[in-house]
Parts: sequence; C-alpha cells; structure tokens
Amino acid sequence: MKKNECIGVFDSGIGGATVLKEILKLLPNENYLFYSDSINNPYGDKSDETIIDICDNIVKEFIEKNVKAIVIACNTASAKAVNYLRKHYPEQIFIAIEPAYKMVHDLAYDKTTLVMATKGTIESEKFHRLYEKYDNKKTHLLECKGLADVIEEGNKVKIKSYLEENLADYRGKYENVVLGCTHYPLVQSEIKDVLGNVQFFNGAPNLAKHLKKVLEDNDLVSESTHKGTIQFIDSSNSKTKVQRFFNYINE
Ligand code: DGL
Repeated sequence: MKKNECIGVFDSGIGGATVLKEILKLLPNENYLFYSDSINNPYGDKSDETIIDICDNIVKEFIEKNVKAIVIACNTASAKAVNYLRKHYPEQIFIAIEPAYKMVHDLAYDKTTLVMATKGTIESEKFHRLYEKYDNKKTHLLECKGLADVIEEGNKVKIKSYLEENLADYRGKYENVVLGCTHYPLVQSEIKDVLGNVQFFNGAPNLAKHLKKVLEDNDLVSESTHKGTIQFIDSSNSKTKVQRFFNYINE
C-alpha cells in the first residue's frame, strides 16, 4: 500500500461500523482499513493501561500500513487513549469519537437527557470534562455494563432482554438519549421500543464532517472519482463478523 492511500478505522468490534457508515456518506471515494478488535471486546471494563496498550498496538500496525488518518471509532478508546496517542504520534492525524453531549447542549439543552455509555467512558476524565462543560442539570449518566458485549454477539433475544431489564425504569422519563458507545446505534430501534419516543444523539455524523475538513485542510482528500475500497480485519478471525459488517455497511 502506497503512502496516504487509506484511512484506518478501529473499534473493539462491529460498533465502529456505525461510524464508518457516516464517513462513507461524505467520503465515499476514500479507501478504508477497518480493524474490528473483537478478541479484546469489551473495552468498556478494561483499565486505562490495558486500553492504551491495545490502542498503541493497533496504531503501530496502521502506521506501518501508511494510513493517512486514524479514526478511533470507539468512545471508550477515545476517552482513555487519544491523549496518549496524540502525544506519542504527533505527526499522525487522529480523529476520535466522543459522546454527543455538546450536541444536546446546542440543540436540546432544556430537555431531560439520558447518556448511555460504557463504564470506561463514563468514568473517564475526558468525558467528565465534556459533561461538566455542557451539563444541563437534567442528565442521568447510565453505565450500560455488558450491552456492547451482547450487541457484539448479535443475539437478538439477548439484546431485547438486556434492554428490557436495564432500560425499562427509564421509560417516559427522558426526552434525549445520547448513544455514547458506537455499538448502540446498531440497536437504536430496539432501544426506542423500550424507552418510547426519545430523540437520539450520535456523534458519528459530526465526526465524519470533522474528518472531511481535516483531510481538506491537509490536502489529503482522495482525488479518485470512483468508490473506494473497504478492507475489514477482525482480530478473532470471525467469518460471520465479516458478513455482518458488510451487510450493515451496504444496507
Ligand atoms: N464501541 C465501544 C465504544 O464506543 C466500546 C464497546 C466495548 O466496551 O468494547 O465505547
């Protein structure tokens, strides 16, 4: 692969596909290398040191492949590792997802808000800075322990029963829901079935706009007039994951 030919995107599994899907709407002619680190899923319960170590190895691989930008399509990895990565790889462009809590501030500040995210994201310093800056005083932070795991596994019955057991108490109490983990948009309609008529906030569309702007500013946008390629690598070599990934991306 020649220098600057592709954009690296990674997550602890299939969740990052929800980010890539938004990116493809704005940058269809780029080539992508998507790394689904499902062998290490979930990231949400791991220590800062472990996550930094995992992300560092993925970034090293990406850099060896000469990616022109790296998208951290995982809120937990962004929250815990992006500062380290930016410091250790100052030449590298990193675009990192974060829970769309500023979007709530900008668009629906006066409404009751439920932030759904992993334990790791909610406990992180990075998220706390964001939360304190935009706190609307009507927000509940909900650690959805185990939700990314059941979504990764893809068993619809388990997903439904997880959501019923863990979200039913919040039904009718919240108007905004921040999907603060990239796995959650995959089950947005199932979340709605339990929570009722809520407005969802997802950071991926803004991340895609930001990525486009950064590529433009650095003169790195592909000049190709054809649809780019997507290479999918799953760290547990799951065949079903490949299928699921491309079905979702192409649907
Ligand atoms: N998709 C990831 C996120 O956005 C995390 C899921 C996990 O716990 O591995 O936070």
